[in-house]
Amino acid sequence: MTINKCLFPAAGYGTRFLPATKATPKEMLPILTKPLIQHGVEEAVEAGITTMAIVTGRGKRAIEDHFDISYELENQIKGNSKELLLDEIRSLISKCTFSYTRQIEMKGLGHAILTGETLIGDEPFAVVLADDLCTNHNADGVLKQMIEVYNKYQCSVVAIEEVPEDKTYKYGIIDGDLVHGRDDIYRVHNMIEKPDPKNAPTNMAIIGRYILTPDIFNILRSTQAGKGGEIQITDALMQQAKNDRVVAFKFKGKRFDCGSIDGFVEATNYFYNL
Ligand code: G1P
Repeated sequence: MTINKCLFPAAGYGTRFLPATKATPKEMLPILTKPLIQHGVEEAVEAGITTMAIVTGRGKRAIEDHFDISYELENQIKGNSKELLLDEIRSLISKCTFSYTRQIEMKGLGHAILTGETLIGDEPFAVVLADDLCTNHNADGVLKQMIEVYNKYQCSVVAIEEVPEDKTYKYGIIDGDLVHGRDDIYRVHNMIEKPDPKNAPTNMAIIGRYILTPDIFNILRSTQAGKGGEIQITDALMQQAKNDRVVAFKFKGKRFDCGSIDGFVEATNYFYNL
């Protein structure tokens, strides 16, 4: 099956960016003039996906308004040069459909993904965490690369990159064996959510891009709260990995952790200097 839908878990509070995120969704923080979530939607469109499924929560209405027309504003600037600034978002909106569901309680990324089941149904799908901003300047984007991997292996795919060994406590960490003939794809046999460096099997960290097969929903339904008392997608994926149903892919390109101030500034400088 091809990948037609992309899920965006976007209910989190974004406490690291307070006070900016007090009344503004963290997904709406802009890198230059473009909100993080728009970068994510563009990456999905580039990968051939046009059905966007967004898991929102209280205080996130600005996301819905962003992917809609703003009648008064658009009428006001009609015919003047400012109108050009809306070209990209208008064309994006015309290509895609957007559906939303709300996560009532914050019980972790796994729970957010399970909340999205009603929008996804029984088909494989992509997941983008908008605060991980990925780019592969002028070449295939990360989701597009992952879909190629999915098409070949027909199982869940996680994007990974190597992180400094003392930073494993921030990520899901995988261990696996390189598949025959590739130096960038691992068959995963172990995954641990945010291990202390002393317990981390490797320094290969999952970043916010996944392709998931739909059996993940049933697994998530019976996944107990794990690290931090939250339902973790890493734990659910580990169940698939036990049956050799997860590959990890070292993508080509750059990823900025825009959930941290440092990563956010780095991304801003990168796009400013392009
Ligand atoms: C989540 C996942 C983690 C993954 C990370 C990537 O953590 O739980 O496994 O490595 O996203 O950004 P979060 O950053 O939401 O705490």
